[in-house]
Amino acid sequence: FGEFDFIVVSNRLAVDRVVDEHGESSWRRSPGGLVTALAPVMAKADGAWVGWHGAPDETLEPFDEANMRLVPVPLSDEEVELYYEGFSNATLWPLYHDVIASPEFHRTWWDSYQRVNERFAAAAASVAAEGATVWVQDYQLQLVPRLLRQARPDLRIGFFNHIPFPPLEIYAQLPWRRQVIEGLLGADLIGFQRPSDASNFLRCVRRFTGYAIKSQQVQVPAGENGAPAYASRAEAFPISIDTASIAELAQRPDVIERSKEIRRELGDPRHVLLGVDRLDYTKGIGHRLKAYGELLEDGSITVEDAALIQVASPSRERVEQYRLLREDIEGAVGRINGTHDTMKNTAIRYLHHSYPVEEMVALYLAADVMLVTALRDGMNLVAKEYVAARTGNTGTLVLSEFAGAADTLRQAILVNPHDIDGLKSAIVQAVEMPRTEATRRMRLMRRQVVQNDVEQWSRSFLDALQGGGRHDA
Ligand code: G6P
Repeated sequence: FGEFDFIVVSNRLAVDRVVDEHGESSWRRSPGGLVTALAPVMAKADGAWVGWHGAPDETLEPFDEANMRLVPVPLSDEEVELYYEGFSNATLWPLYHDVIASPEFHRTWWDSYQRVNERFAAAAASVAAEGATVWVQDYQLQLVPRLLRQARPDLRIGFFNHIPFPPLEIYAQLPWRRQVIEGLLGADLIGFQRPSDASNFLRCVRRFTGYAIKSQQVQVPAGENGAPAYASRAEAFPISIDTASIAELAQRPDVIERSKEIRRELGDPRHVLLGVDRLDYTKGIGHRLKAYGELLEDGSITVEDAALIQVASPSRERVEQYRLLREDIEGAVGRINGTHDTMKNTAIRYLHHSYPVEEMVALYLAADVMLVTALRDGMNLVAKEYVAARTGNTGTLVLSEFAGAADTLRQAILVNPHDIDGLKSAIVQAVEMPRTEATRRMRLMRRQVVQNDVEQWSRSFLDALQGGGRHDA
């Protein structure tokens, strides 16, 4: 047995490599909410994080950083192509997001997915102390729970799916549908973003395994090799953000000053609108641009009065669908700007960059209206971050009903992004919303994200895993 009592397994490791001006490289804790939430649990519990360090064809020894043991899992160049870009991001990602793009099914990708999942499971098993808790994250690693249970029946295993789980009718396309479900069922507790994701999953379990299900618990029968029967539970645990740290940044004088500077740089328009997304076809950026372009066309919005900032951070750039999307979006921005810009004003500021969190919060503060128009999204943390940053209770959120965040942020202006006319009216309504009404809504939404932050999320998952997680059938 290894020596760690709490292990997190995710495709990406919890640290990023940073290279200074002398070319010296070091590691820094990743800024994401998941890492922020789990770092204190790691520090308390003797924790280890197992994940890929981001560089193909490079093998690294385990090391200590940010109060945890980091266990790098190597991926060859070919595995990055087949397991990560292929099966994870060109099969599962589109399949789990309502087939917005067509998923591709290739047996070589599946073979690689299995091999890499085996490697992650072996790495986790090698560092886990007897009876340790292992928490596996996301769609890249759905086979890990079962592989781990086979190798180490003493472990308590949780899994959390950060993206949607598709309806049975779509999931059924996957040639390896039964193996993936069996993989997930290796966990004592399987967490999803929305109750509808958990019920989609349970329907698929019923169809493709025939195991008995009692309320949300699947009775997994004893294995032929003598493995005992057990119960695996599926439940929703909507993820959140580190609300306090976003709110703190939003009150820092330099961040506030930067937000004012952004507005000045835009020429002090009456309305600033903002979109912030990974450049991904699930985010509905094209639908948003179409609606905005039509509003400029019919004069409901003018470039003198309003500026739209669209941050599109680079993502998965070697995957074909992402390359095509980039061409589409950049073509649309060019057409709209070409038609509506003047020497003085630009309709859309399009930024294909990633920014540090300070700049993101300054942007949230600078924006009167935040546009989140995803066609399908597990949660959408940008919506929650915008709300967390608006400590003065001003600002309006336009939010897609197809993002998990719509379950809790009910006071947003909820939209169906496929309905371009509806989206246009929502944007106009947001721009024109009386301040008192905007404040009433924002106050209620802020209460939501303050009470339900990512720390509360991880605690409730881990409590459920410890307490009710393991039931012998
Ligand atoms: C989504 C997924 C994560 C993933 C992230 C960035 O949020 O749920 O698992 O890490 O996108 O994507 P990338 O492919 O760059 O890791």
